[in-house]
Amino acid sequence: MDNALVIGGTRFIGRHLVSDLLDNDYDVTIFNRGNHDNPFSDDPRVQHIQGDRTDDEALRTAKLTVEPDAVFDCVAYKPGEVATAVDIFADVDAYVYISSGAAYGVEEVPKREGVTTLCECTDEQATDDSHDSYGPRKAEGDRVVFEAASRGINAMSVRPCIVYGPHDYTERLDYWIDRVLNYDRIVVPGDGTNIWHRAYVEDVASAMRVVAEEGEAGEAYNVGDRRLVTLEEMVDVIADAVGTDVEVVHAGERELAASGLSPDDFILYRDYPHVLSTEKLARLGWESTPVDEAMRRSVESHRESDRDGSEHDPGRDAEERVLSILDTL
Ligand SMILES: NC(=O)c1ccc[n+]([C@@H]2O[C@H](COP(=O)([O-])OP(=O)(O)OC[C@H]3O[C@@H](n4cnc5c(N)ncnc54)[C@H](OP(=O)(O)O)[C@@H]3O)[C@@H](O)[C@H]2O)c1
Repeated sequence: MDNALVIGGTRFIGRHLVSDLLDNDYDVTIFNRGNHDNPFSDDPRVQHIQGDRTDDEALRTAKLTVEPDAVFDCVAYKPGEVATAVDIFADVDAYVYISSGAAYGVEEVPKREGVTTLCECTDEQATDDSHDSYGPRKAEGDRVVFEAASRGINAMSVRPCIVYGPHDYTERLDYWIDRVLNYDRIVVPGDGTNIWHRAYVEDVASAMRVVAEEGEAGEAYNVGDRRLVTLEEMVDVIADAVGTDVEVVHAGERELAASGLSPDDFILYRDYPHVLSTEKLARLGWESTPVDEAMRRSVESHRESDRDGSEHDPGRDAEERVLSILDTL
């Protein structure tokens, strides 16, 4: 397998995937609309086909032009898109769909492939664009993959939890990096032990390649950091990467409420732990980057970018009020 078609490929996960494929000697073609700058435009190893994945003919033409061995679908948000793709790419050696940890429909620790129940998806949800139906749509995409595999198509899926790292346009981690860079005392909601499993983006990229190369048709593979860190540990790992010390101040619901805040106002806080088992993927030979190294690269990229996570900021004034309330206790 050495000829890859990446649907997407210029923004976040797909961009890292292209780099990983190049490092592993693949010929790569990216297929996208051209709305985002192409970071590989000067790289002769990367071909670009302009097209919209919702245009079946454009996708079919890309298939005939590239004749890929492996197809990586970074931009399937609706089950109908997955159904079209498995049909068009029915004879490739590997079709890998990016699903999501949000596809799981119940809370349990850890969430395991083939064991933990997936979200249901109504016909209405399957075609809408709302955030609320994201998990159901991703789960239905997984079921399309499973059904395709039962017809002999080499389709597989990967399920990343929250992805972080260089070029992360969501700026979720950037909020916390920005706080560590700019303040000595930081409010962390709850007692700091809250866990929302995260996946370093280069590891998601390598997971997609490993699944294409070693995975089994009809299987889904969770992706997440092998070592999980709590929210407070994450702040400490960021501080180590920055080379500074910060004082983490825990604030419970009552102290936050006195300042008009709630724990959910803090990005990457989640009440119930979200943990994906990564054993199945590790059994294919996949490894994850140590968390401190992943954070070092994330902080470096943050410093070189203009990302500050301010869209997630609960408000430093409100935070200062929480700190002064806690100081008086
Ligand atoms: N980020 C996370 O935390 C996370 C977690 C779990 C799962 N996922 C899944 O991972 C996948 C990739 O996420 P991402 O955040 O890396 O995506 P992304 O950066 O938004 O990917 C966008 C890429 O796809 C292209 N694209 C978008 N719409 C297209 C269309 N209609 N036709 C052709 N190309 C199109 C974009 O280029 P153009 O705009 O130029 O077309 C760009 O190259 C998604 O399926 C997402 O659900 C993400």
